[in-house]
Amino acid sequence: MKIILTDSYEEMSRRAAKLFAAQLTLRPDSVLGLATGSTPLGLYGELARLCAAGEADFSKARSVNLDEYVGLAETHPQSYRHFMDEHLFSRVNVARENTYLPDGAAKDLDAACSAYDRRIRELGGIDLQLLGLGHDGHIGFNEPGDCFVPGTHVVALTERTIDANARFFASRDEVPRRAITMGIGQILQARRIVLLVSGADKAEILYKAVRGPVTPHLPASVLQLHADVTLIGDRAALEKLI
Ligand code: GLP
Repeated sequence: MKIILTDSYEEMSRRAAKLFAAQLTLRPDSVLGLATGSTPLGLYGELARLCAAGEADFSKARSVNLDEYVGLAETHPQSYRHFMDEHLFSRVNVARENTYLPDGAAKDLDAACSAYDRRIRELGGIDLQLLGLGHDGHIGFNEPGDCFVPGTHVVALTERTIDANARFFASRDEVPRRAITMGIGQILQARRIVLLVSGADKAEILYKAVRGPVTPHLPASVLQLHADVTLIGDRAALEKLI
């Protein structure tokens, strides 16, 4: 794992944006694996800036997001589709029809999971996957468990994740209890992975993920098995690692 230490959240975001812009220069029709949460907001802002300056071109890019809540319509302000439209897709020159998220509003969730697996396969797999890190070590919405699940699946969110995400909703009761997430197999099949981690509250779990045993009880630890992971973190998050 390559580790890039940055002095601030802003620098972390700029470094990550450069990687994404370079990926699109090398391969304009790249399949980008994208993430939600607070961590990538700076990166998305920076990509919008680079795009406006003509330094990043999304015109041929395709994207697949890691996850989506179950039961929220696309138009719900807290759906991940809405988040992505607001924070990235409306601010860069990507064609919206080339952006994909799991269909969390589907009546048949199993069919929605299979359709998402098929979609990723048909796109030719993911060239560059962005990941954040949950406080319990989750990636996407792959929560700690007894085994790694390879493909797209429905998950029950842990109480900790519900607590963490409650800040985006009017009340904790409104946080969906389930989500659809890409599986660990799909994440590992991405050709390159960028893991972004910021803040002292992630330092301990990040340390365990990178230096501890590989275990489904800490899903991010599986990244130790991937040949091309770049961890970009600020000083607070990397404190225990360096
Ligand atoms: C959510 C998302 C994850 C994200 C995590 C951390 O649970 N499904 O993809 O990495 O939150 O979010 P944050 O970056 O806000 O700490």
